[in-house]
Amino acid sequence: MNKTFIHEDLNAVIRQHSEWLANQLHSQRESLFPPDAQKSMRKFTSGEAAALLGVNDSYLRKLNLDGKGPSPELTPGNRRLYSAEDIQALRVLLEKTARKPGDYIPGRRDGDHLQIIGVMNFKGGSGKTTTSAHLAQRLALRGYRVLGIDLDPQASFTALHGVQPELDLNDGGTLYDAIRYEDPVPVRDVIRKTYIPNLDLIPGNLELMEFEHETPRALAQGNAGLFFFRVKEALAQVDTDYDVVVIDCPPQLGFLTMSALSAATGVLVTIHPEMLDVMSMSQFLRMTADLMDVIAESGADMSHDWMRYVLTRYEPQDAPQNRIVAFLRTMYGDAVLNAPMLKSTAISDAGLTKQTLYEVERSAFTRSTYDRAIESLNTLNDEIADLIQRTWGRT
Ligand SMILES: Nc1ncnc2c1ncn2[C@@H]1O[C@H](COP(=O)(O)OP(=O)(O)OP(=O)(O)O)[C@@H](O)[C@H]1O
Ligand SMILES: [Mg+2]
Repeated sequence: MNKTFIHEDLNAVIRQHSEWLANQLHSQRESLFPPDAQKSMRKFTSGEAAALLGVNDSYLRKLNLDGKGPSPELTPGNRRLYSAEDIQALRVLLEKTARKPGDYIPGRRDGDHLQIIGVMNFKGGSGKTTTSAHLAQRLALRGYRVLGIDLDPQASFTALHGVQPELDLNDGGTLYDAIRYEDPVPVRDVIRKTYIPNLDLIPGNLELMEFEHETPRALAQGNAGLFFFRVKEALAQVDTDYDVVVIDCPPQLGFLTMSALSAATGVLVTIHPEMLDVMSMSQFLRMTADLMDVIAESGADMSHDWMRYVLTRYEPQDAPQNRIVAFLRTMYGDAVLNAPMLKSTAISDAGLTKQTLYEVERSAFTRSTYDRAIESLNTLNDEIADLIQRTWGRT
C-alpha cells in the first residue's frame, strides 16, 4: 500500500503537526532562551546617553566629575557606560534644575491628553509589530511614560518584551481579562513592568480571540453595550499613569482592532511599498471606513488627532518600490511620514532572538549595517514623537 495515501482525519493530522511544532519550538526556546532567563536592556555609551537626554557628552562627563547623578560603569578602555535606569535618573536630576519645566521630561503637562496610538493594517507582515515595539521602546528611552499593548493573539510584541505567551500567561493576564463582558478585572491587574524603565506592558496570547467570539454573542443578547469602547474605557482607568499608549493590532479587522481604533487618538498604518500590499491596503481602508460608519451611527466620536502611513521594510535602491512610494506621497501628501523604516538584516536578525534593534549590541553587527538601521528607526520614531508634541501644542 502506498503510505502517502493512508486515510487519516484532517483534524488528527493538523493536531499532530501542531504538537510536533510546539514541541520543537519549545525545545529550541529552552536552549536559546531558558524559561527563567530575564531579559535586560543593554548599556549605553556616554554618547548615546547624552543624545537620549538631549545634552552634550561633555556636560554628562562634568556631572559625573562633580559627583552628580549615578556613576557610569567604566570599561577597560575608560569609556563610560550608562544603564537605562542611570539615564532616567539623570533625566530626573536635569529636570530639577531645568530652565523651564519639561526641558528634559517630555511627557504630558497639565491639560495634555493621553496619546493612544494604534498601529494597524490587516496585511500580515506589514511591519506592525516591528514598528510598535521600536516606537514604544524609543519613546520610553526618551523619557515618555509608555504602555505597550499586544492586541494580537499571535503575541509577537509580547515575546519581544521577554514574556512567553504560552508559558507565562497560563492564568490569563492579557487585555482580554479587562475588556471581557463577564467579570472584567481592573486593567491595572494585567499591566506589568518591563526591563526598560518607563515602559509597561499588557501582554497578549490566544485568549484575546475570546473577545472576537464573545462580542457577536453579547451583541445578539443585547448586553455588549458599546463594545468598541471597551478598550478606551479600560485605558481610562490608568489615564494619568502614562503619556503614550502604543497598541500593536492583529492583522485583521475584527472587534479587537475596531475597539483599538475607537480608543486611538493617533493611527499609524504600516505599509510595505509593494503593489500587492498597496492593493490590499485599499480594501483595508474601505472596510475600515465602512465599519467606522456603523460605529459612528451608534453615537461614537470618531475624532482623532492624526493618522499617518509608515513605509516599512523600504529598500531605497529598488526602483518599483520607489515608484510606489512616489505614488503614495503624491496621493496622500503629508499623511505619509517622511522617514521610512529601512529594510535591514540588523532588524530581522535582532528579531530572531526576540529583540529589537535597541536591545542588541552594536558589536553584534557590521557597524555600517547597524548604524544605518538605527538611524532610520530613530528618525522615524522621533518624527512620531514630534507629532505627539504638536498634538500637545508644542514643537
Ligand atoms: N525594517 C525591517 N527590516 C528587515 N526585516 C523586517 C523589518 N521590519 C520587519 N521585518 C521582518 O518582517 C517580518 C514581519 O514583520 P512584523 O512582525 O513587524 O509584521 P506584522 O505586521 O506585525 O506581522 P503580523 O501581521 O503577522 O502581525 C518579521 O520577521 C520582521 O523581523
Ligand atoms: Mg504583528
